Amino acid sequence: MASVLIVGGGVIGLSIAYECRSRGFEVTVIESRECGGQASGAAAGMLAPYSEITEDPDDFFMLCQKSLELYPDWVNKVMQFSDETFEYSRNGSLYAIYHEADLLSIESKQRWQREYGIESFILTGDEAREREPLLSEDTYAALWCPEESHIYAPGYVAALIDACRNSGVNILEHAGEADLVSGNDRQVKTDKGIFEGDHIVLATGAWSRNWERELKCSIPVFPIRGQICAYKGPELRHIVFTSQGYLVGKDNGTLIAGASEDIAGFDTSVTSHGINRLESWSKHVLPDLKSERPFHKWAGLRPATQDGFPLIGKMTQKPSVFIAAGHYRNGILLSPVTAKIIANEIEQLPQEVPIESFRPERFQLV
Ligand code: GLY
Repeated sequence: MASVLIVGGGVIGLSIAYECRSRGFEVTVIESRECGGQASGAAAGMLAPYSEITEDPDDFFMLCQKSLELYPDWVNKVMQFSDETFEYSRNGSLYAIYHEADLLSIESKQRWQREYGIESFILTGDEAREREPLLSEDTYAALWCPEESHIYAPGYVAALIDACRNSGVNILEHAGEADLVSGNDRQVKTDKGIFEGDHIVLATGAWSRNWERELKCSIPVFPIRGQICAYKGPELRHIVFTSQGYLVGKDNGTLIAGASEDIAGFDTSVTSHGINRLESWSKHVLPDLKSERPFHKWAGLRPATQDGFPLIGKMTQKPSVFIAAGHYRNGILLSPVTAKIIANEIEQLPQEVPIESFRPERFQLV
């Protein structure tokens, strides 16, 4: 059977590895440090395209919607080969607004969502508080999306690693920086030696720009820091979004408040400015947090792209090389669909969603 070599052990690389292995490929993952050590493990784990994407529906929205639809089967598939379990909560979301003027925007969002078969409801402030009693009295209205869900990201990553290993994926961590071997598009050089694959998949998140020189192609992926903090409770029944961020309660009793969007290169430290903003905003949304202080603060680097769309697919100039990067705020959500797209590309099978907009070579080299 043909072999697939994946560079990058985040959720995207691991999901592709697991999918390719389940289709019978020999699969190796090489990771410069530890699998899931970057954006994947830092994520709040929301599967919430209807709340996170505020613009009109486009190919990116269709991609997110498809991935959300794939999630229940994907979780079962991961669990088939994993001894690790992880939280997958299908408890819906509330997008809360605080001013009458914002009603128009959630109403128009609901109109196009309905056209796409998405179940969503506009609730008055009182109705929203009936569903989520901890919401502030200031809540004017909310858009309720019952299909949105979330997972516990560190648990998901651990289960993926376990499923990969148990199904026969070879995972090599602490391999150092990887480079394509010059003149050979099927070999990758690392600190631990040279690795070979009939197909090479580059899934290196915010670090993907490093491939530009070797691929002779522009890969405009940039790190955007997301600072997050966690409280011990109180318990929420839904994911709560507002225009300023989100709150999501986990089964382990933590309440996560996220997230900043700031440019700080590859620096993953937290700042008092970033965390103070999260704290003051979350106390406004949930007054019960007024006397609480976060017990944990951290940051991850989201891989943003120049046009906001991920890069997913085959390099036409180097057909043994594939890219899966730039998933920005949606890496966890998009992991199942990205895995299927890359595996279908490798097997030259038809795709279930349009992928033309995500072609990796769409940017001009500058
Ligand atoms: N998807 C949530 C975030 O990027 O903060």
